[in-house]
Amino acid sequence: VPHVLPAADRPCPPPTPTPVLCPPPPPPAAAAAECSSLGALRAERLSEAPPNILECPPGKECRPAEERERRYQAIGQKGATLWFTGLSGSGKSTIAEAFEQKVVMEMGKHVYRLDGDNLRKGLNKDLRFDNEDRMESMRRASEVALMFAEAGSIAMVTLISPLREDRNKARELHKAQGIPFLEVFLDVPLSVVQARDPKGLYKKVAEGKIKGFTGVDAPYEAPTNAEIRIENDGKTVEECVGILIQELAARELLKLGCLQLIALFLRLLLQNRHCRLGSS
Ligand code: ADX
Repeated sequence: VPHVLPAADRPCPPPTPTPVLCPPPPPPAAAAAECSSLGALRAERLSEAPPNILECPPGKECRPAEERERRYQAIGQKGATLWFTGLSGSGKSTIAEAFEQKVVMEMGKHVYRLDGDNLRKGLNKDLRFDNEDRMESMRRASEVALMFAEAGSIAMVTLISPLREDRNKARELHKAQGIPFLEVFLDVPLSVVQARDPKGLYKKVAEGKIKGFTGVDAPYEAPTNAEIRIENDGKTVEECVGILIQELAARELLKLGCLQLIALFLRLLLQNRHCRLGSS
């Protein structure tokens, strides 16, 4: 029978050291250096060929264009990417959402919206707002949009996407696969989006609570070659959606029936010209 000491006579166990799971957070300057080296590491990895991947060697397409065309014919729709760019508050999400509702619900077509705010809650959750992370956010969004478009959807990407070079990369990616890519520039002056301020962010920027905000103290490079430019100041959301539908129909990316054509024409004639926008 093991001898058990009464509780009061038992020796105390040696104190266990507190486990150190992670080092203390680095001071701000070191953290910044760490961030930039993370971006450099990502750039290095992206420039390398993935190891041990034998399918789809260079020169052989994984999904040949003919297969894609057969798919488009079978489902009665062609894929494309609409890449919305514009300042926060310019109406990207609002217009894309209204377009999605209309084209899916009334025309029965496949449309899917990849919204900056939503992507930042999941796929892009690890990314911040410095240039390197924004570039990565756009790279991921363009690869995902390409897949949706390849599958026959109209993919809509609504990111501020402030830098021309990054937007051009998305364009080039689509061009290389022969998938239509339309840049949609919501051209709204800073003073107008500041006055709208749907999320109250410009107010916070003015109060000095947010730094590096696009268009204020971080750059926004307006497109010079956007396929579709909408001056979204003084237009209704419906009117903007009408413009998009017309542009897609003109490029044979959406087929309009006679009734839809007449309805679109009448709506364009009748609608008022006041802008009612929600968020970005
Ligand atoms: S992007 O510049 O990287 O393309 P994205 O469209 O994903 O931006 O996100 C923009 C949204 O993030 C804005 O509408 C706003 O709600 C929020 N946001 C937070 N910080 C910033 C910032 N510094 N600049 C711009 N938008 C910001």
